[in-house]
Amino acid sequence: MKNIRFNQQQTSAIGIGTWHIGEGTPNESQHQMDAIRYGLDHGINLIDTAEMYGEGLSETLVGKVIKDYPREKFQLVSKFYPYHATEKLIETSLKKSLQRLQTDYLDLYLLHWRGDTPLIETVTGLEKMVQAGLIKNWGVSNFDLNDLKELSQLKNGTNCRVNEDLYNIGSRGIEYDILPWQKQHQMSFIGYSPFGSDGGAYLNIKPILKEMAQAKHITVHQLLLAWVIRNHDLLSIPKTSSVEHMKSNLEAVDVSFTADELELLDQNYPKPNQATSLETI
Ligand SMILES: NC(=O)c1ccc[n+]([C@@H]2O[C@H](COP(=O)([O-])OP(=O)(O)OC[C@H]3O[C@@H](n4cnc5c(N)ncnc54)[C@H](OP(=O)(O)O)[C@@H]3O)[C@@H](O)[C@H]2O)c1
Repeated sequence: MKNIRFNQQQTSAIGIGTWHIGEGTPNESQHQMDAIRYGLDHGINLIDTAEMYGEGLSETLVGKVIKDYPREKFQLVSKFYPYHATEKLIETSLKKSLQRLQTDYLDLYLLHWRGDTPLIETVTGLEKMVQAGLIKNWGVSNFDLNDLKELSQLKNGTNCRVNEDLYNIGSRGIEYDILPWQKQHQMSFIGYSPFGSDGGAYLNIKPILKEMAQAKHITVHQLLLAWVIRNHDLLSIPKTSSVEHMKSNLEAVDVSFTADELELLDQNYPKPNQATSLETI
């Protein structure tokens, strides 16, 4: 498994997304657990979840899997609702997440998106959780450049380790300003929904993707994932419910592109040439 530098440590080139995991039948949950196990057994060492996902069902399923693995072997990321972003509620939410996940700490705890609570109060609450040893570090999600700049001006705001935003071949806005800013400030980037989310609703699959995938003897999903991680400078967190797809996603890590292929993809899915509003799901 290729590694990247993420959250100041060696991390697998892809992580495991878990939105909608654990919400189905016991049989579906079993397949999802098998898929996560397959990923962990084959070199993936980061799982992304959230209290929002199935209102705790995703964390509960992840907890059942990870209890069989040495905790220090992987990074665990979870997120709290913006309306739990006060000092008091962060602690309550975190303790519930830890219980569902059957662990005593998170590697990263993220504000899922920005709400009405003043950022300074959220940062203070998160720093307290670091001091208490319940989280190693913290970050944010769905922040645009202005949010990141505002955060960085606050006391302890530069302790923010990661920002997690939408990133796939059809949603490239972050390449213009957010990604360069985060690199400059040594803040890691997590790109979510590499395939345009469940059912691909957030990505227009143009014929070129099918043609190129066929020529490279890979699937369109492998092409999409390999493209997101092509520069080895950010983490992508595909979600899958099947071992077969997990296997395919692991193989995609080794797919590379020629300069001509990248140019052709740029022609069809242009790079941003100006700042755009942050796209979210
Ligand atoms: N911070 C945020 O606000 C935010 C927002 C959205 C997502 N996220 C995170 O990012 C993760 C990924 O995003 P996502 O869940 O929205 O969607 P995604 O990973 O872009 O796409 C998931 C879809 O792709 C399918 N799939 C996965 N691997 C495949 C393969 N090799 N071949 C064919 N189909 C494949 C899955 O079906 P199967 O399950 O059948 O394989 C599922 O329908 C989430 O799970 C979550 O952890 C964060």
